Parts: sequence; structure tokens; C-alpha cells
Amino acid sequence: MCTDTSLKIARDQVGQVRAGSVKAPVVKAFFDEPTFTASYVVHDPDTRSAAIVDSVLDFDPASGRTSTASADAIVDYVTGQALAVAWILETHAHADHLSAAPYLQEKLGGRIAIGRDILAVQNVFGRIFNEGTAFARDGSQFDRLLDDGDTFAIGGIPAIALHVPGHTPADMAYVIGDAAFVGDTMFMPDYGTARADFPGGDARLLFRSIRRLMQLPDETRVFLCHDYKAPNREDFAWETTMLAERTANVHVHGGVTEDEFVAMRSARDATLAMPRLILPSIQVNMRAGHLPEPEENGTRYLKLPLDTL
Ligand SMILES: [Fe+2]
Repeated sequence: MCTDTSLKIARDQVGQVRAGSVKAPVVKAFFDEPTFTASYVVHDPDTRSAAIVDSVLDFDPASGRTSTASADAIVDYVTGQALAVAWILETHAHADHLSAAPYLQEKLGGRIAIGRDILAVQNVFGRIFNEGTAFARDGSQFDRLLDDGDTFAIGGIPAIALHVPGHTPADMAYVIGDAAFVGDTMFMPDYGTARADFPGGDARLLFRSIRRLMQLPDETRVFLCHDYKAPNREDFAWETTMLAERTANVHVHGGVTEDEFVAMRSARDATLAMPRLILPSIQVNMRAGHLPEPEENGTRYLKLPLDTL
């Protein structure tokens, strides 16, 4: 029995797809190997309305150069399929890649959305980067701040936002028809879960968020934000099912208790280095993917806070 209203709506959506009263969305994945990130274009085959989830702006930290090869692959696909982009969704403020949301919006249109608790991320990292008053911490860089239970649609396909904090305070999952885009919560069953040790992260909350997601129906298609290949697996993978996650996820399968998970996750996180691109990524992604304003010589700069993270 499910007493959580948002979750019940999400469960019903998956049921409607299964019953044939709602079409399943078409999901196309784009995998960026340098950052191990999966981006998605999800669309309604009847209306051609689409959403883009978790895009990547290519960035070379050695030269400080950005480029749009990854984003252009999405632009080409959207254009080739004659899709109309309604939404550009972020599951969270990523710490390992820059978002291409503003570039994609300029090329394709659509509204950029993220979870409302991005305000907490803007506050924490606004302090870390010693941002002045020009950096608004009210989420106004985004077109829409989503709360748990907010519903929207991709053409004729219903969608709902679920707040799933833990990896960061602002993580959202988006259930679109029978497809759940779970961001950095669970990874593939043989790999486990996302880390929970960034500023504002919380392993206990992550466990609860994952358990909540696991109440989605068995047949829910689950799309992940990252894959790093598990030991003994040759290929990258980013799609699974909720049944597979619940029964086989090495960190959070059905038998694992919250305390066991927190102990495992905390011990593992203590061994992990910071992501290679965390400082550039957060500085840009907390601005909805906009680069910092140019200085008077016309050049944009990113900061590196020393001995802080
Ligand atoms: Fe992340």
C-alpha cells in the first residue's frame, strides 16, 4: 500500500502505459565517455514533443576550452527526428560535467528546470566560491523550479517530478510515462549507488530516496545518469528495470538495512577522490549551465578555491 501521493501518481502513470491507455515515450541515450554521463532525449511519438535530460557541455580543464560536440549530437538528433523540445531537465547540479542546457535552449528552445532545493546548493557553493551579490541564490537562473509531486507532460505523456535527495540536497527523479530518470541515486544493479559525501550530501537520505523510488512498479524502465562499468562488465550500460534494481542492486537490494547502507556508503565515500571537474562543473551548473560573466577584457574565468573541498 502506497501512502505517498506523488509516488502513487508515478505508479499510476507506469500502470497506464502498461495498460495501453498512455503511450510509452521513446528514449534515446547519448553516452559521454570522458565524464561517464548518460544524457537522454525522451519524446512522445504521437506529438513529437520532447524533453532533454542531463546534457553535457564538453570541457577540457587543461586548456580551459569548452566545446559542443556532445550537445550538437543531441541537436542533430532532435532536428533529424523533427522533435519540439518542451523541457530541458536537470536531475541535479552535476559535479562531474558542465551542463549544455543554455546552449541547447538557444538552439532548440524548451524550459530549463531543476529541483527547488537548488537554492541550498547555490547557498553552499555560493559561499565556497565567495560569490558576490551578482550571483542570485534564488534559482532565478532556471525557468522552473520543481517541487516533489509537480506534474507536467511531454506531449500526451504524463510526467511527474520526485524529490530524491541524498547525493545532493536538490536531486530529482523524473518519471515520464513508464520511464524513470533517476539521476545520481542508483546506478546499474552490478555497480550500486551514487556517492553521498559532497557538501549537502547525506547517505541516510539517499537510502530513503532509493527505497522510495523502489516502490515504482517492477516493469518501470530505469535510466541512469552515469555508468562506470562494473568489475567483470565490458560495456557501458545505463538502462535497467526497477525489478532488477530491487532484487539485485549490490548496495541497496531489498535485504539491505538503512544502517548497513550508511556504513557501507560512508566507508566507500571516504576512499573516493573529488571528481576531476567538480569545481568547474558546480560553478557553471549552479548558474543553470551559464558560464560566469566575462571580465572587462572579455574573458570568462572560473575560480579554484584552495584547500576548501
Ligand atoms: Fe552527480
